[in-house]
Formats: sequence, C-alpha cells, structure tokens
Amino acid sequence: MLLAPLPAGCGAAPRQVRSPGIASGRIVFQSYCAACHQYDGQGMGDAPSLANSPWVAGPEDRLIRIVLHGVRGPMQVDGKSYDREMPGFGQVLPDSKIASLLSYVRKQFSISAGPVTVEMVSRVRGANPGRTLYWRAEELLDKQ
Ligand code: HEC
Repeated sequence: MLLAPLPAGCGAAPRQVRSPGIASGRIVFQSYCAACHQYDGQGMGDAPSLANSPWVAGPEDRLIRIVLHGVRGPMQVDGKSYDREMPGFGQVLPDSKIASLLSYVRKQFSISAGPVTVEMVSRVRGANPGRTLYWRAEELLDKQ
C-alpha cells in the first residue's frame, strides 16, 4: 500500500507541543513538592493544603514568589494557621519548570485559576534580583 504524500510543511520537524506543560509540571510537583504537600495536595502536619488555598488561586505573583524564594512565619490557609517554613526553589528550577509546575498545581488544586506562563515567572524573578530571604506572608499580602 502506498502512503499518501504528506502535505507541504509537515514531517520536517517534530511537532511542537503547545500546552503549558501540565504533564511535565506533574513530574516536577511529585519530585519537589509532594513530600510535604502530599500527592493529592491536601498537605500534612506542618505543610498546608494546596487544595482550596487562596495562595494557589490568588494573584500569581505571590504564588511564584513562594516557589522562587520560600516562605516562613505565620500564615493562614483555608481558615487554619501555620507558622513554619518552606524553602525556595528558584536556584534549582528554571522559569520554564516553575511555569509548568504552577500550571499543574492550579489546574489540579483550584477550580478558577488559569495557567502560569514562563513570562510571568521571569518577570517576578527579574523583579527580585539576588533575593535569598524567605518571604513572610504579610509581605506577600502587602505587595501585589
Ligand atoms: C519541606 C517541605 C515543603 C516542600 C518541599 C514544599 N513546601 Fe510549600 N509549604 C511548606 C510549609 C511548611 C508551608 C507553610 C509556611 C509557613 O507556615 O509560613 C508551605 C506553604 C506553601 C504555599 C502557601 C500555602 C498553601 O498551602 O497554599 C504554597 C502555595 C506552597 N507551599 C507551594 C509549594 C510548591 C509548589 C512546592 C514545590 C515546588 C512546595 N510548596 C514545596 C512546606 C513545603
């Protein structure tokens, strides 16, 4: 049987996947976040839930800052108080991985929030050059 010729323009380069990388985001989540927040995002002990969290569904700048630089001290999540710390991942995860990770986290754990793009992560990283301190919740809430 003869195969029909490919339409012009197809076949030369492999197809680019245009989704925000939800599948690779899941792998990043499982490698870097699930140990504390659990695979189902419900949290455990000291680590708060990501499901129904206003930090996940709220402005993306806050969420990106938490993952880039970490967060410590008192914070409220879904009516409960926490006072622990979480390390930042900005040194080990490039912007593209943080974008797919957070797109996965939002898709999985929030009904309303949209994906996080590489441009958003790069903008927030660029606005905080050389930051090594963890954020405090009240700083994140002050600064939109
Ligand atoms: C070592 C354990 C640990 C790891 C690993 C970790 N977190 Fe956290 N995370 C915490 C703790 C503890 C807090 C609460 C910090 C506080 O009390 O100030 C927190 C808070 C958060 C918050 C804000 C509160 C909430 O539940 O919505 C988000 C969002 C978050 N983490 C996302 C992530 C993501 C995404 C990853 C993976 C890149 C991750 N965390 C990895 C322990 C961890």
